[in-house]
Amino acid sequence: MGDRTAILDHGSWSIKAGHAHSPLSVESDLPLLVTPTRVRVYDVSTKGKADAVMEEAEGGGMAGGEEAEEGKGEYAELGPIQDGVICDWDSMEVLWHYILYEQLGWEKGEEETVLISERVLSSSKLQRELMTQIMFEKFNTKGVYMADQARLSLGSYGKVSGCVVDIGHGKMGVSCVVDGQLQQPSSESLLFGGEEFTQFLREAVQRRNGRQYTEKNLADLKHDCMEVCSSAQAYLSECESREEREHDLPDGTTIKVGKEFVQAGEMCFQPHRFGYKCMSLVDVIQTSISHTSIADLNMKRLLTESVLITGCGSVVKGLEQRVQTELRKLFPPSYNPSILRRPEYMPVTVPMHSAWVGGFIEAKLAFSQNQHITKYDYDEYGPSIVHRKTFL
Ligand SMILES: Nc1ncnc2c1ncn2[C@@H]1O[C@H](COP(=O)(O)OP(=O)(O)OP(=O)(O)O)[C@@H](O)[C@H]1O
Ligand SMILES: [Mg+2]
Repeated sequence: MGDRTAILDHGSWSIKAGHAHSPLSVESDLPLLVTPTRVRVYDVSTKGKADAVMEEAEGGGMAGGEEAEEGKGEYAELGPIQDGVICDWDSMEVLWHYILYEQLGWEKGEEETVLISERVLSSSKLQRELMTQIMFEKFNTKGVYMADQARLSLGSYGKVSGCVVDIGHGKMGVSCVVDGQLQQPSSESLLFGGEEFTQFLREAVQRRNGRQYTEKNLADLKHDCMEVCSSAQAYLSECESREEREHDLPDGTTIKVGKEFVQAGEMCFQPHRFGYKCMSLVDVIQTSISHTSIADLNMKRLLTESVLITGCGSVVKGLEQRVQTELRKLFPPSYNPSILRRPEYMPVTVPMHSAWVGGFIEAKLAFSQNQHITKYDYDEYGPSIVHRKTFL
């Protein structure tokens, strides 16, 4: 049991989904599908009968493009997850239905088990109970297992202790995990993430080019051009010297770009320069490590030596190196802050999708050892069983 499990990694930008039985090898892509966390509602009065936005999200912005499907008329696009919290359950059900039945091939009456990863500290107990209830009552699943994204991400790197930095869309989150246990007091977040980078670039690129661009164009631009300078000094000189150039997008659009792409990267390290009254990413990492409830200094040292940068924003050029350099300035010389490297036997996209890969690995064990919530458990104890029976 466990290999037919559907693995769902929930995010505010996209949901990563796949089966635990698919093969995982360094030569191939990860066996997952990335669906934008977007639902199209054609008539707002029929909310709950919305269509899932079906295009693949990788490399895209607002998936589905800007064209309405022929004959269906006006529509609104809703994002049912905001900052890790499900805020529109009707739309979420539509997405789950699309992913489980249409993408993963579930058959009515023969539904399988499901592992759901979520950002435990953003979501609430009620959210977990509702997810459990919907999965059993509306999706007729045979079993549910929920797990925290930070813990799963570390697991995908073969680690049980470390500091996980998630560069997502809603915000950037940092949490420490010690011996496989999420350290709740260590969880910190920055007020911004991929969405704010795009917003910043939208305004800057519009000023430079004198016209507006589609969400897809902006997302492509961000993915191609955003970068982080090696130091605050290097950032200042880039701002002075970087010349405007032209960048071609996959759809043939040519856009003039300049220093705004290093500025977007610098937001993580000098947020006050961009109007954010919050700590920098490295200060947040340091605070997170210092807030773990573990008194053991050796463990704190181990956490600084095992910093995992994950989420789709983790692939921004220069980011890992700058985090490591800045952390080395912040911690005493006896510490050796280091960024965890992708295990060489894992596909290259693992850093972007490490929570999903961690779920893939954990599902086999969790379901075969009966750590999940079974239909019997649910019928006996109701949705609150989720707080007792899953290992968050
Ligand atoms: N190559 C890239 N360079 C920079 N940013 C990228 C790249 N690829 C994706 N992104 C950005 O990463 C963000 C999505 O990251 P991710 O999929 O980890 O978020 P999520 O899990 O859906 O959201 P969250 O964890 O915040 O709920 C988007 O803002 C996207 O534009
Ligand atoms: Mg995420």
